[in-house]
Amino acid sequence: MKHYLQFSDFTADEYDYLLARAALIKKKFKGYEKHHTLVDRTLAMIFEKASTRTRVSFEAGMYQLGGSVVHLTTGDSQLGRAEPIEDSARVISRMTDLVMIRTFGQEKIERFASHSRVPVINGLTNEFHPCQILADIFTFIEHRGSIKGKVVAWVGDGNNMANTWLQAADLLGFTVHVSTPGGYEVDEQLAFNGKPVNPGCYKVFKDPLEACKGADLVTTDVWTSMGYEAENEERRKAFADWCVDAEMMASAQSDALFMHCLPAHRGEEVQAEVIDGPQSVVWDEAENRMHVQKALMEYLLLGRQPG
Ligand code: CP
Ligand code: NVA
Repeated sequence: MKHYLQFSDFTADEYDYLLARAALIKKKFKGYEKHHTLVDRTLAMIFEKASTRTRVSFEAGMYQLGGSVVHLTTGDSQLGRAEPIEDSARVISRMTDLVMIRTFGQEKIERFASHSRVPVINGLTNEFHPCQILADIFTFIEHRGSIKGKVVAWVGDGNNMANTWLQAADLLGFTVHVSTPGGYEVDEQLAFNGKPVNPGCYKVFKDPLEACKGADLVTTDVWTSMGYEAENEERRKAFADWCVDAEMMASAQSDALFMHCLPAHRGEEVQAEVIDGPQSVVWDEAENRMHVQKALMEYLLLGRQPG
């Protein structure tokens, strides 16, 4: 049994399969063709933080595969009344086939997974957001072909998205140019779980404009992630110069794409002219969450499928 708790849980070969499978699943969806590979299977979705895309993409995706979902939040389950995560895992995994969790610390999802009888998917933790990066890479490939050897500029917080980009770069052979304000740097130990770091997979820049130079993809995220709201005011000051604008996009490759996992704050981490401009692929990126996660759920439950 496999879990998907961070991007590094799969090999490059598994990603080749998943990305190709997601393309097939998307094509069938666009052609109104049924793809009922998970009939009678149930996905439990546990949300300890808010969500729009993750909920809709997993829920709609599971229905499209012929399965069903159970939606739980901290407030309406015993999780909010201190039932141990281990007990919740034992119980929920006896009645469902697959579990997706959005929570705070990565250790919590790891504890759940180690007591679960069924595969567990990370739907975002403070440390990682692997389903999003899977969708982002799928989106890049759809628009520009292979991401191997390309440069991704990360402008902003050294957060769950940044950590996951680094894991993906290491595994799939591209480079991330990271520019964060002082005090918000990526934690290498955390991103790579203390494993030796391939120096080719990322480069740190003080100046966000420098990080964007020659990039094939420019991407950013909110200044304040969920769970860090108490730091909102100090973050607004610290991140003021880390706003993706037209000058940064102009310093990237002329065909560079812009991505943002959403939700976005126009005028904060990105200017409206960029996110609503011609280089932005944020709506494809959001939609592709569903297609890649359908491939992921199918893979975790059935393994590789022919055709
Ligand atoms: N990008 C993303 O995970 O969005 P939600 O928080 O809306 O799920
Ligand atoms: N880094 C953001 C991503 C939201 C999808 C957060 O964790 O809130």
